[in-house]
Amino acid sequence: MAPVRDMAKVEPGESLRAGLRAATMAAHDLLDHAMQAASGWQTRADYARFLALQHAARVPLEAWLLANAPADLVPPAQTPLLARDLAALGVALPPSSPPFDPLQTLSKPPSAGAFHVKHACVGAAWVLAGSALGNKAIAKQVARIGGGEWPVAFLGDDMMMAFWQGLRARIERPAAPEEAEGATRAAEAVFAHFLAIAEHGEVAGSAAENLPA
Ligand code: HEM
Repeated sequence: MAPVRDMAKVEPGESLRAGLRAATMAAHDLLDHAMQAASGWQTRADYARFLALQHAARVPLEAWLLANAPADLVPPAQTPLLARDLAALGVALPPSSPPFDPLQTLSKPPSAGAFHVKHACVGAAWVLAGSALGNKAIAKQVARIGGGEWPVAFLGDDMMMAFWQGLRARIERPAAPEEAEGATRAAEAVFAHFLAIAEHGEVAGSAAENLPA
């Protein structure tokens, strides 16, 4: 696994995006593996579990961003798309996961005065929007495995890709150290939130078990 880099040591001239990617690379790998283990998308039932897990994790993240972020940092809501896909598969919505609070979720508290919500919003929005890149790759596999029959409102969400393009202008430039630290800590917290649900969340398991493979 790649070493985790501490964003207190931002490389000179490095963009915020490059710093966020470097600082969370190991967390992303861990989450990717945990999600493949918890659900994957090899069968229709796996795919339903994958969508249910995404729904459970994203409800509190979307709520936190809506309550805390300026309008231009609120990504388009994807939980309605997930709900639509789950309904098309005949699976009930999973129970909500606990509310998201970046300061509660972090194992290592940020240094004093270095965490401002406005910076945290950039990091949280980056994780949700950046995940659309991975979703594009997953969508290709899902189209192949499901023979083009499985619903893909979430994986094929064009609104999130449009939001992502807008966000790039903001993050593909160097950031002040306090912005980089706040954004990084929040991004780490979002990955930790997802990981906790992937590792411990029993989402819609029983409903998905009843689906034909
Ligand atoms: C389920 C398994 C997952 C797979 C297979 C996966 C795969 C990928 C891939 C292939 C990329 C690189 C895309 C590119 O550079 O063109 C990527 C980027 C990314 N993914 Fe994932 N991903 C997964 C889950 C997640 C989840 C659950 C999240 C967050 C909630 C996430 C957040 C991100 C972020 C933030 C990026 C980087 C965006 C950037 O380049 O700035 N991924 N993922």
